[in-house]
Amino acid sequence: MHHFADRDLVSISDLTKEEIEFILAAAERLRKNPAPDLCRGSILANCFYEPSTRTRLSFEAAMLRLGGSVIGFSESNGTSAKKGESLSDSIRVISGYADLLAIRTPLKGSARLAAEASSKPVINAGDGAGEHPTQTLLDLFTIRECQHKIDDLSIAIAGDLKYGRTVHSLCLALLHYKVRLYFVSPKSLPLPEDIVQELQRRGIKFSFHATLDEVIPKADILYMTRIQKERMQEVDLENTCRLAASQLGEAKLNLRVLHPLPRVDEIDVGVDNTPHAYYFEQAQNGLYVRMALLALFLGKL
Ligand code: CP
Repeated sequence: MHHFADRDLVSISDLTKEEIEFILAAAERLRKNPAPDLCRGSILANCFYEPSTRTRLSFEAAMLRLGGSVIGFSESNGTSAKKGESLSDSIRVISGYADLLAIRTPLKGSARLAAEASSKPVINAGDGAGEHPTQTLLDLFTIRECQHKIDDLSIAIAGDLKYGRTVHSLCLALLHYKVRLYFVSPKSLPLPEDIVQELQRRGIKFSFHATLDEVIPKADILYMTRIQKERMQEVDLENTCRLAASQLGEAKLNLRVLHPLPRVDEIDVGVDNTPHAYYFEQAQNGLYVRMALLALFLGKL
């Protein structure tokens, strides 16, 4: 049995492999067996200082489907941050109003700061170019759903590896599994050195590539990401990681294309009509995984 109540989830590394597997199993149970009263009486505070569609609304939907309530905000403009209140002060106060906080901020490290200030569990819903652990849990859930396993897969990860927080958390989670990784990115957006070193230290086989075409024939999963222009000074960067349906001719039959979304122009809409597209199913899985996280971190499961 694992205990999540009163803990924070700031980095995917806060969880052991066994805990990750336990969360994925709980998500599967909640998908099959709705529990409309499981979190009745509990309040989630959605504290989103940066834009979001999927993470914020799936957290909200998850809490409502479990019978709980939601308070919060979707931008900092309507909060006292505009008057100069510190994140720590705001979170300390909000944690007196709610039972659990989901927080998204534009600054790497601020989710940890929020967790230290909060008297209630804090779940990192994305901290700048840092991490996005709940996205990784739904990514793992989706990989297992569409490939029936995680071990022994070849996984290509493409796009903005430098600022893409979903990539960082996914790489750290995949340290627990026996996978072969292929990385594709523009030269100026490489995987951070600390993650490269961790992959090496843990004996994960990986290689770097300049084009998607080099890795598509080898991959079981192609995990595409958006260039995080909002985190860069220079925004006229050419994206060399764009996928069109015509590039999938050499793909394995079982290849599934994932993307945390939102996409901009890195996956042509023509890919949506191929059997390889799986990113909308992936987004749907966020609901089940976040239901499991809420129930577990509130001590209801
Ligand atoms: N995947 C993800 O984090 O999407 P949102 O930015 O819409 O929440």
